[in-house]
Amino acid sequence: MPSPVNYTLTGDIGVITIDHPPVNALSLAVRQGIMDSLDAAAGDASRAVLIICEGRTFCAGADISEFGKPPEEPWLPAVVNRIEAFDKPVVAALHGTALGGGFEIALGAHYRCALASAKIGLPEVRLGLLPGAGGTQRTPRLAGVGAALDLMTSGVPVDAHRALAAGLIDRVFDADLADAAMAWIAELVDEDAGPRRASELPIAAHDGGIFDQYRARLAKKARGQVAPQAIVDCVEQAAMTEFADGEAFERETFMKLMAGDQSAALRHFFFAEREAAKVEGLAMGAQTRPIESVGIIGGGTMGGGIAMSFANAGFAVTLVEISDEALDRGLSIVDRNYTGSVKRGKLSEDAAAANRARIAGSTDYANLADVDLVIEAVFEDPGLKKEIFARLDGTCKPGAILATNTSYQDVDAIAAVTGRPQDVIGLHFFSPAHIMKLLEVVRGEKTADDVLATCMQLAKRLRKVPVVSGVCYGFIGNRMLRPYGKQVQLLLLEGASPGQIDAAMEGFGMAMGPLRVFDLAGLDVGYKARQALPDEMKGDPATYRVPELLVEAGRLGQKSGAGFYRYDDDGKPIPDPAVDEIIERTAQEFGIERREIGDDEIVECLLRALVDEGRKIVAEGIAQRESDIDVVYVYGYGFPAWRGGPMHYGAAAGL
Ligand code: 3HC
Ligand code: NAI
Repeated sequence: MPSPVNYTLTGDIGVITIDHPPVNALSLAVRQGIMDSLDAAAGDASRAVLIICEGRTFCAGADISEFGKPPEEPWLPAVVNRIEAFDKPVVAALHGTALGGGFEIALGAHYRCALASAKIGLPEVRLGLLPGAGGTQRTPRLAGVGAALDLMTSGVPVDAHRALAAGLIDRVFDADLADAAMAWIAELVDEDAGPRRASELPIAAHDGGIFDQYRARLAKKARGQVAPQAIVDCVEQAAMTEFADGEAFERETFMKLMAGDQSAALRHFFFAEREAAKVEGLAMGAQTRPIESVGIIGGGTMGGGIAMSFANAGFAVTLVEISDEALDRGLSIVDRNYTGSVKRGKLSEDAAAANRARIAGSTDYANLADVDLVIEAVFEDPGLKKEIFARLDGTCKPGAILATNTSYQDVDAIAAVTGRPQDVIGLHFFSPAHIMKLLEVVRGEKTADDVLATCMQLAKRLRKVPVVSGVCYGFIGNRMLRPYGKQVQLLLLEGASPGQIDAAMEGFGMAMGPLRVFDLAGLDVGYKARQALPDEMKGDPATYRVPELLVEAGRLGQKSGAGFYRYDDDGKPIPDPAVDEIIERTAQEFGIERREIGDDEIVECLLRALVDEGRKIVAEGIAQRESDIDVVYVYGYGFPAWRGGPMHYGAAAGL
């Protein structure tokens, strides 16, 4: 096997080129190749060394697929230290995404330059880890304690200009990175600029209380997670001790995190997300259809958000509503959302205006005649949806993709009312659709491969994470929510309170407890959906009697000020004895004896419900693989990524 690292002497500059597609991850062969190149540079006439990468990016980090296996020398920290200790100046030239161990290689170099389009980051925290090749020690020495903590505890990369301003890099070039870097190195050589080692820099003065402030903030923001706290510990060590001691502490802490459940879960999730994009039986590079213009039918909660999603990604959108009044209502919500994004600093005023300008409203289906894709997002009424699809069949151009955002309905039955079922697919967005990353792509029995491939690719353009689902009631996510919701109701009847169940699940790491979720979604939604079901699909009445009684008492959830909780003016949930009374009465009605239930039992019971249904979903071929279900639950249902998703957790916990 040829080495992925090549060394050449160009004039008096030694050039180390890493070429290890797709992302130049620092696998064993790369680490060894860098060491060998440094050996060569040490013994030749080079006066300085350049480290640069081929392909789409500088190194995107350590090779994650090697994690959890026995480590093989040379280790990354040793490689970085060797670079830093080198007695000729070493320059790293960054492009693409210089991440994690990749950026740590650059931190070991004595000088750093980057293309203006490059992104620089230490995202290890997202894998439940910390920068383990000196990053926690060198970053604060270059950028200060606060900037280093922000970079490492958020894991969010910064662009080259911000990195320059923070002191993380020294030069930004607009184009021709290799040439610009070589010219800069020639200058450095002329100036006799020697090695400049980050490990030898002092740490700038900082407020001594900063570490505890970050700990407190992260305890809330990254509830339950160990890696962010460990990063704070390492930076504190950097501030308190010599580099070598801080580095040893970093290594020890890194190894502990690597051996822990949270990192195993997050690493599983990293690959799960990428695996989800792959569709069994669909050739890589399968033909796709061009999509530039999109029609959305229905400008309610979902339609408005879907329209924004497309407009924000540069698509021309036509939003069709049933009347001028409904259209005005829908567009004014879109306007309000954009104003909110500007206020929260998520979008500049200009960007918001440009995105908004891509959305045109209409009440005439004829305006959909030329669009490449239509997404129907009207009320969850199968009759209405079929009527609309029949109409689209007569309106849209041949080859247009016709999609439904239905949460539950049979996509095959909807497709069957058209003369082109091969063009019909489900695109199930999650609320708020312009924010939530999950997109369930529902493959109908007759959906054509190129339609599916187009929608998977489209998701990436929308910056969504697509997961393929087969057709069944509720697809993957909402189908699993049903047994989960039923167990919640049984736990209430058996003795747990709404507050206890929510606290137990939030303690486990769920973004929101189930009863608060039901209240937020509106109890009337489930009520109406249930009414449309035949009795055999409704299941045991004990699993829905309480929410039924709540709806009949006008308690529709947060929107009516009361559901499983009462809500104060700020929307804060308050336990309500009236609800306890309804629960107790219902338990009596079904002859259920109430008892003390522990938090652990609540968590186990509810997770079992998810895992059992998840396994059925895979067995029936509705989901392609268990890890897809994890992606659905983390991105669509607030399941903590650091638990890996319900299926990963279920397997690890032996459920
Ligand atoms: N190790 C191994 N494989 C990696 C990898 C890595 N660090 N980064 C990406 N890959 C693989 C992906 O699994 C994918 O493989 P596949 O095609 O077989 O599915 C392929 O590279 C392409 O990745 P993406 O589909 O994610 O490509 P994008 O262009 O969308 O994104 C990226 C590129 C921004 C680099 C993104 O892949 C990414 O964020 N990677 C992870 C970066 C990271 O977390 N680095 C830190 C690693 S931990 C570390 O360095 C520890 C150190 O401190 C000691
Ligand atoms: P909504 O009630 O907020 O909006 C529906 C809109 O459709 C209304 O504005 C209505 O005027 C319009 N409409 C009705 N008939 C129409 C017609 N013939 N032509 C054009 N417009 C018409 O409903 P919501 O919540 O946006 O749901 C829409 C769909 O999305 C449903 O199928 C729902 O199951 C699904 N969904 C809803 C989610 C949610 O959280 N609300 C999440 C994911 C999917």
